Amino acid sequence: MNSEQQLILDNVQLSVQQIMQGEGSGHDWWHIHRVVNNTRRICKSESCDPFITELAALVHDIGDHKLHKGDDTACRREITRLFKKLNLDLMLAEQIIEIVEQVSFKGALIDTPVQSIEAAVVQDADRLDAIGAIGIARTFAFGGNRNREIYNPEIPVELHDQFETYKNSSAPTINHFYEKLLLLKDQMKTESGKKIALQRHKFMLQYLEQFYNEWDYK
Ligand code: ADP
Ligand code: NI
Repeated sequence: MNSEQQLILDNVQLSVQQIMQGEGSGHDWWHIHRVVNNTRRICKSESCDPFITELAALVHDIGDHKLHKGDDTACRREITRLFKKLNLDLMLAEQIIEIVEQVSFKGALIDTPVQSIEAAVVQDADRLDAIGAIGIARTFAFGGNRNREIYNPEIPVELHDQFETYKNSSAPTINHFYEKLLLLKDQMKTESGKKIALQRHKFMLQYLEQFYNEWDYK
């Protein structure tokens, strides 16, 4: 990476820190920080462009629909707005938007293919932060932020085949493990992503076992 690219990353980071600081549903600045670290780690064993992947990781959630009242057009708008504010190349913005649009999970039965190694790395990096101990913490933070029950054995799991129904679901948080988190290890795109995901996946299974033991404690 050259010094001009490093400067761009530093400036984008400062803005993203301001935008995401203190967000309470698990999409705060530290989520972005961890995703950037994940991309660096995965990039070590993939031939990808580190500048492009890091830049995409930094901005991947600034226009997320969940932070913009369900607005699916916010991704393009917020990334373009940030690039204009920082006087950055708008062709580069387009390249980044294309990657970020391939990152998001859309429902258990919906495929989310990637068209470049950079998109594969950012998707894996983001999804690694959705599983394991941190993934568990984030999912309950999200549930609390949206007033969801922790668990309700009377509400069945639903495997969504439509993004709209996935997006608008208000199911208890434990359901989210089956509707998303436990599915991610098989959707990893890179070899290192797969390896890290497997270990985090096992931890979630262990957690759920303990959860149900305590739930039925007599
Ligand atoms: P992606 O980055 O793949 O689009 P999301 O931004 O949808 O993923 O979700 C990020 C994290 O937010 C999830 O992994 C989970 O921790 C939490 N989250 C999102 N939707 C829900 C939900 N319906 N219930 C509980 N947690 C959720
Ligand atoms: Ni994210």
